[in-house]
Amino acid sequence: MKTISYAIVGTGYFGAELGRIMAQKEGARIAAVYDPENGAAVAEELGCENESGLESICARPDVDAVIVATPNYLHKEPVLEAARNKKAVFCEKPIALSYADCDAMVSECRKNGVVFMAGHVMNFFHGVRLAKKMIREGRIGRVLYAHSARNGWEEPQPSVSWKKIRAKSGGHLYHHIHELDCIQFIMGPAVRVTMTGGNVAHSGPALAMRTICCF
Ligand SMILES: NC(=O)c1ccc[n+]([C@@H]2O[C@H](COP(=O)([O-])OP(=O)(O)OC[C@H]3O[C@@H](n4cnc5c(N)ncnc54)[C@H](O)[C@@H]3O)[C@@H](O)[C@H]2O)c1
Repeated sequence: MKTISYAIVGTGYFGAELGRIMAQKEGARIAAVYDPENGAAVAEELGCENESGLESICARPDVDAVIVATPNYLHKEPVLEAARNKKAVFCEKPIALSYADCDAMVSECRKNGVVFMAGHVMNFFHGVRLAKKMIREGRIGRVLYAHSARNGWEEPQPSVSWKKIRAKSGGHLYHHIHELDCIQFIMGPAVRVTMTGGNVAHSGPALAMRTICCF
């Protein structure tokens, strides 16, 4: 099997974790990372190059595919740059915060003939795949209703993360796209989407600002 050589743009929590996992996979190697804040430490840990810019990491001849794990509002440029350099792209979810950006990213990948994959992890969960298989085989019957919910717990944080700022994360519907994606995987493309959400547990001055800006 040919070894696929990856570059990672954005090595915070998830980009670094993807790097650790990929580095252990047979047939995969991490060639380089680019992250102005965390790149140096992660490059040392993974034993790869620490690149100093987006253009240079995407232009590397030893890179076959680029993993994009920057904050949600910063996915577009790395995806476009990777595609322009004819690299396959894996982009974390949500791909983009607008249809126009998403369309531009998909178009650039199509134009350059490269694979473009979104980090929709639930499609790969064993239980989800099994449910899909049982539906396809007619063992469940016609699916009329599916329900998917997410809850979470959070302690007060020292600062407000980009994940809690709607302009940067897209808000919960975008940032936690997994549930919508999972239902679409099982039932097919949505015609209309509505969402309800609420803060049922976190209250008090330390959490107020952090919880109101998501919806
Ligand atoms: N699929 C999943 O289950 C899953 C889970 C967690 C996170 N994610 C996604 O992964 C992405 C990253 O999330 P995270 O939790 O790692 O966030 P994070 O804040 O921990 O990491 C983001 C990193 O990107 C770096 N960065 C910012 N601007 C950059 C730029 N212009 N170029 C290069 N690097 C830049 C930051 O320095 C930081 O290290 C998000 O899109 C998030 O939605 C997906």
